[in-house]
Amino acid sequence: MKHFINLKDIPAKDLRKILIDAKKRKNVRKKLNNLEIDKGAPLKGKLLIQMFEKSSLRTRLSFFLAMSQLAGRALTLRRDELHISEGGESIEDTAKILSNFGDAFMLRTDSDEKLEEFKKYLSIPIINGLSPSSHPTQILSDIFTIEEIKKKPVSKLNISWIGDSNNVLNSLIAASIKFSFKLNIGCPKNFQPNKEILSYIKNSKNKIFICDDPKIAATSADVIFSDKVISMNDKVDKIKKLNDFKRFKINQKLMSFAKNNCIFLHCLPRGTEVDEKVFSSNQSKVWIQALNRVHVQKSILLYCFGKLR
Ligand code: CP
Ligand code: NVA
Repeated sequence: MKHFINLKDIPAKDLRKILIDAKKRKNVRKKLNNLEIDKGAPLKGKLLIQMFEKSSLRTRLSFFLAMSQLAGRALTLRRDELHISEGGESIEDTAKILSNFGDAFMLRTDSDEKLEEFKKYLSIPIINGLSPSSHPTQILSDIFTIEEIKKKPVSKLNISWIGDSNNVLNSLIAASIKFSFKLNIGCPKNFQPNKEILSYIKNSKNKIFICDDPKIAATSADVIFSDKVISMNDKVDKIKKLNDFKRFKINQKLMSFAKNNCIFLHCLPRGTEVDEKVFSSNQSKVWIQALNRVHVQKSILLYCFGKLR
């Protein structure tokens, strides 16, 4: 049984196997409708239980489609409708029930500790569907999107992140180390990654550079990533933070420092960090990026079920 909690804890060869499988599966689905089942119906009879403690559009839909296409089913729970919420039922008891009724559990949570506690008591795989410290299914899918569009291994590309040091960036940093790609991070000095992440970067000896000049971060980029300045449950002075990030807005001027064929990616939903012109330009690949979540999550599920080909 394999869990999918953080990219940094998953061997690079397994991450690559997931991407290879996703590519093969995507290629043979071109003429199929959303709910048509992949050949071999690999997760026939299996149930994914997914629970959201925070809002989600893409993650919930893509896991639903992923399970459907693999011939399984997905059931979505809301935390506020369970006894674990107001009724005080423990994670241990909840996890035992989830393990008896379901075959895998996907959790979007406001606490990294909760993921670990569920993992301790579950006897089925757990998948992290976003936590305060990471968003691994998103970033693995984004690596897939980059390689699909650029038709090159990500290790041969310059990747830039211009924006907040948040959960999505932490997973991108882990991906940079696992897949050995150059990563330039541009963010205000007081919003740099935390100490734990900085020491992870330092120990990795990978090519990750952090600066507080968005133009330097964008220079020669093949891919520019951004994300909302204010993440869900971000307990900050929002007006002040948005003001601190004003210089980091992705606009056409900033894009001009990157390579001519640079693409723009954003996990969505968006805020004010990207200009409408860039967001709706040909360089922006955000819609294909969102759709690819289905394909990569199918292979993540198969990895967790021990059924990756
Ligand atoms: N990118 C992403 O995870 O979107 P949702 O929050 O809508 O699931
Ligand atoms: N960093 C964002 C990602 C949303 C998908 C958040 O945590 O709100």
